[in-house]
Amino acid sequence: MNASIIKSTFLTHFSTPPALIARAPGRINLIGEHTDYNHGFVLPAAIDKAIWMAAGPRTDGRFAFFAHDLGEFFISENEKPVFQERQSWANYLLGVVSEARKDGLVFGGMNLVFGGDVPLGAGLSSSAAIESGAMFILNELYNLKLSKMEIVRLAQRGENHFVGMKCGIMDMFASVMGREDHVVRLDCRSLEYEYFPFDALDFSLVLFDSGVKHALVDSEYNTRREECEAGVSILKKFDSSISSLRDVSLPFLKKHENELLATVFKRCKFIVEEIGRVERACVALQKSDFKTLGKLMFECHEGLDLDYAVCVPETNFLVESAQRFSPQGMVLGARQMGGGFGGCTINLLKTSALTAFSEETSAAYRQVFGIDLKIYPVRLTAGTEVVQTLSLPAFSFQPLPFTIQNGTTKFK
Ligand code: GLA
Repeated sequence: MNASIIKSTFLTHFSTPPALIARAPGRINLIGEHTDYNHGFVLPAAIDKAIWMAAGPRTDGRFAFFAHDLGEFFISENEKPVFQERQSWANYLLGVVSEARKDGLVFGGMNLVFGGDVPLGAGLSSSAAIESGAMFILNELYNLKLSKMEIVRLAQRGENHFVGMKCGIMDMFASVMGREDHVVRLDCRSLEYEYFPFDALDFSLVLFDSGVKHALVDSEYNTRREECEAGVSILKKFDSSISSLRDVSLPFLKKHENELLATVFKRCKFIVEEIGRVERACVALQKSDFKTLGKLMFECHEGLDLDYAVCVPETNFLVESAQRFSPQGMVLGARQMGGGFGGCTINLLKTSALTAFSEETSAAYRQVFGIDLKIYPVRLTAGTEVVQTLSLPAFSFQPLPFTIQNGTTKFK
């Protein structure tokens, strides 16, 4: 996908050139999993896999979207964003419209085409890229004067309130705020952030896509959140200054282990340890100590599996394969990345080991699970950006050749 494909798709569908073209990247997360909704730290980065969007204004207030990769078209019946049962992908776009309206922002309709190469269901946050990209574009088109952080928050609210997934802020933040060759540590409580160069020279970050995404991911994600909240509500009885797991130390948690359900204790333990790991990872990065960074990634995976219980046999297998390459110093660290229950593992390895590691792991993975492993080396890139601004055409709206039948848009 690139600017010229997305531009010509726009022209085909809307018979007018777009006003602007933007790129909204997917993200990785080096370490700091499930810490965002616990007000801890995360260490994500935007990557060279992105959603491209071409957009232009509409005078009738309606929202018309073409999903290039699905070959599907959607248009709202009027200016009101209504949740879509059937074309559920449209909700990512309608969600930000809905939240922006709640904030009293004034804007007209929009034609938008989007598509890209962020693999779906791989834990690289394609949906967050769509949401933050759409909000970013609305801001540009209608000069809403939103800051980048306001765009991030609106995109997250769209996902939380309209789509219904109670995700934290990390994915949208990374997609919007990424910087080339940097990871960014976000304090999810204060929203302060700091960039750390990731110029690993002889080392690479490579994703192994397990090809598995379990259907229970959203419901289990929300359950984990509730379990953390349950822990906080008990722990705060012993220290009223606790408002999230960010405020809890490991000794304090262990002291109160018996007051918590065993499952809740394990979830809280993982989060408290993981927040600490992000801080140690940043220190390691500053010293270019990739060995320590890798060790922390392995530790994170173990916690995700044993305490947070969000791993699956497939991702465990991929991380075990990385561990086999670790004693020789070829693979420094690996772990399951993102919300869990499949998706990608992220590997930190010696660039020279990539071929041997990938080939051996792919062959074994195919043999055990019958799945062809997809391998994505990643480069860290800038966050959401306008790639091209075209001159706005003297605006005249041409009705499109479609009808709406039973809620589905059909071309005439
Ligand atoms: C998903 C969510 C994020 C974050 C991760 C886990 O990607 O969208 O907010 O919680 O899971 O770290």
